[in-house]
Amino acid sequence: MLVLGIETSCDETGAALVEAAPAAAPSLLAQALHSQARMHEAYGGVVPELASRDHIRRVLPLVERVLAEGGATLSAIDVVAFTRGPGLAGALLVGAGCACAMACAVGRPVLGVQHLEGHLLSPFLSVDPPEFPFVALLVSGGHTQLMRVEAVGRYELLGETVDDAAGEAFDKTAKLLGLGYPGGPALARLAQGGDAQAFALPRPLLHSGNLDFSFAGLKTAVLTQLKRRSGAACDQDLADLAASTQAAIVDVLCAKALRAVEITGLPRLVVSGGVGANAELRRQLDTAAGARGVHVHYPELELCTDNGAMIALAAALRLQHGVAQPTREYTFEVRPRWPLSDV
Ligand code: KG4
Ligand code: ZN
Repeated sequence: MLVLGIETSCDETGAALVEAAPAAAPSLLAQALHSQARMHEAYGGVVPELASRDHIRRVLPLVERVLAEGGATLSAIDVVAFTRGPGLAGALLVGAGCACAMACAVGRPVLGVQHLEGHLLSPFLSVDPPEFPFVALLVSGGHTQLMRVEAVGRYELLGETVDDAAGEAFDKTAKLLGLGYPGGPALARLAQGGDAQAFALPRPLLHSGNLDFSFAGLKTAVLTQLKRRSGAACDQDLADLAASTQAAIVDVLCAKALRAVEITGLPRLVVSGGVGANAELRRQLDTAAGARGVHVHYPELELCTDNGAMIALAAALRLQHGVAQPTREYTFEVRPRWPLSDV
């Protein structure tokens, strides 16, 4: 089975080709990605209308590229998968519309995929794929969730952020420090030269007794520190603030993820989503989990942030496990709000 995956939920246009034989693990044949980050940078964040228009420009050339690289034609595709939600409505409609049009043209069915399920399952394309069941820490720009994952399509929410997502905390703090958009990778780079103990930033909900997160207060704490320096923070102050912010976010993510592992008694943890690319998070989690005999699985670095491969993969796994049926009703209806526990 050949699955073409299309991702257009936010500011990356992704296309990929995944092959899935009945009893074998799906494999990635080709993938192509265009990031709109530079286009949105001037505005300090994603401009939805610009995002939609750019997806329109990029999506078909990316599809042509993966078909060429994968040595396939459109008529060789068995299912066209697209991100149905959550995400920006206009951006989602571009991917859904293109997927339905292409599939209809060659008489193939489509399958709408939940974007977070794509992130969650993305480690199945890594060199170290997990086994079910496991605890998943999903840390992206818009979501921070802990899930108990029994099987493909069986997800139980254990805890989530009550306000900002972890990626949002990275991005908003980076903005305060004068770094570009998206700020996560830039803040992580700056933090390398900083002292993580220099500023005592809060670890919100660390001892709340549940598995929820709260990151909105962190940017206020950073702003307070910057104001104390009355706009005269030196380069070292900025690096120290970056390191201290990263440490606060990573501490809370690690503590809660390990708590989830303890509560569920599951020996495996999967980390996915853009923040899963953070080296300090990986280092701290590997150390703490290793000491408890827990194995941590990550997606390959280039598959942490949004991409088409995870969408094609999620579709392939859903079809292999019989939890989804593709359709020839090309309604291209999208779900901008769509909780993972509802797939
Ligand atoms: O999963 P993703 O591509 O998009 C959403 O579905 O939201 O995640 C993007 C988020 C952004 O907030 C970005 O700043 C963050 O992931 N991010 C990082 C790193 N790489 C990406 N945050 C911290 N460290 C990184 N290395
Ligand atoms: Zn994402």
